Amino acid sequence: MTDVRRHTIAHDIADATLAAQGKLRIEWAERSMPVLRQIRERFAASKPFTGVRISACMHVTTETANLMRALQAGGAEIALCASNPLSTQDDTAAALVHEYGISTFARNAIDRDGYYAHINAALDHGPHQVFDDGCDLVSVLHSERRELLAGVKGGCEETTTGVIRLHQMAKDGALTFPMIAVNDTDTKHMFDNRYGTGQSTLDAIFRATNTLLAGKTVVVAGFGYCGQGVSERSKGMGAHVVVTEIDPTKALDATMQGFSVLPMEEAAKIGDVFITVTGNRDVLRGEHFEVMKDGAIFANSGHFDIEIDLKTLEAMAVAKNEKIRHQTDEYVLADGRRLLLLAEGRLVNLGAAEGHPAAVMDMSFSDQALTAEWLVGAADGLAPGVHEVPTHIDKEVARLKLAAMGVAIDTLTPAQEKYLNSWEHGS
Ligand SMILES: NC(=O)c1ccc[n+]([C@@H]2O[C@H](COP(=O)([O-])OP(=O)(O)OC[C@H]3O[C@@H](n4cnc5c(N)ncnc54)[C@H](O)[C@@H]3O)[C@@H](O)[C@H]2O)c1
Repeated sequence: MTDVRRHTIAHDIADATLAAQGKLRIEWAERSMPVLRQIRERFAASKPFTGVRISACMHVTTETANLMRALQAGGAEIALCASNPLSTQDDTAAALVHEYGISTFARNAIDRDGYYAHINAALDHGPHQVFDDGCDLVSVLHSERRELLAGVKGGCEETTTGVIRLHQMAKDGALTFPMIAVNDTDTKHMFDNRYGTGQSTLDAIFRATNTLLAGKTVVVAGFGYCGQGVSERSKGMGAHVVVTEIDPTKALDATMQGFSVLPMEEAAKIGDVFITVTGNRDVLRGEHFEVMKDGAIFANSGHFDIEIDLKTLEAMAVAKNEKIRHQTDEYVLADGRRLLLLAEGRLVNLGAAEGHPAAVMDMSFSDQALTAEWLVGAADGLAPGVHEVPTHIDKEVARLKLAAMGVAIDTLTPAQEKYLNSWEHGS
């Protein structure tokens, strides 16, 4: 394997003096991550990552820091960069470098060139494994850094959008190593996407606007795992929830769960708050801005900042009042209506709040940690392409989380096990 590593504790962060504060917050998150903590303790004893270099492109938050600590305890050499310029917590980045000795390249609100420079810096590490959240690192690796491909054994992808991009790469024959779709485990998307995005998206909207949701009309675009979470939590806060969808089954599900379902052109006229969570582009467009109410708020919780057509919004506005509140920009249209955009259209829960609660990331990142451990031994036997996480890892994370929550469940009796494995018994 070629050793193209240039440095180990290289870093680029905003402010080293924030390290002590960052460490306190990382330890606070750890208190809600009992499964990952157990895994870290096991890794510290068994050292499954000895000699393994990992380049990770993830949201640089306190929860990610705890994942990095677990991998480091297992012997991994890590280079971390941010998967979104707005989600980086500068104190966490400082603590990773100065308290934990983890090579980190992340500054909050860095521009596009800086963002890609950081991805390249993390890749300079010469990884054997890659962790991605949105597929930007894997994409750069296959386009600009092909000299490193021979050294990469495999990796993990954390989010729905990244998994979709990886499937496209695999279909085009472009992906040169196995990538494991951690997003697709039950213990990730059923909880992180649903309960995590549901709660933290509303948290971000409250922090940015202090709006009252009770009695308002909230329009949720997309009724996938994230959209369901956002819809359920909004309903729980007293909002009238309208769902928009392009998939008939999802739309039917939303209808039977008691939500109104409308095309966006109708929903646009009545919404007070719009939340996009589709993973698709141009979900809110010019024709929708034309008919929205004065004071309408929009937030995106899908992976990329393309769900709201910002170019058209900029072009339609006669004035823009930036940062009238934290992460809130006001666009004034020619007829005087004011439209409020949160977190520049980027992932609102990470841009205007702290991302998902640690208790939910405990499961997603335990999936990541156990998958990375399994990949050390399994990668050579896997073909290039997108693979599922082995079911035993998913079940193990659920079992450990239940145990940590003090919840016990039943086990099959021998007669039940026999019954479920037979076909002879009928009515
Ligand atoms: N904010 C976060 O922290 C966070 C967490 C997890 C996932 N995500 C991202 O959120 C997005 C959605 O993830 P998911 O797991 O819910 O995906 P999903 O595939 O389960 O759901 C997406 C839904 O959007 C619908 N959709 C697509 N185009 C649409 C359109 N034009 N109008 C209305 N609906 C449309 C699809 O039919 C689907 O039901 C992805 O980009 C994912 O990466 C964000």
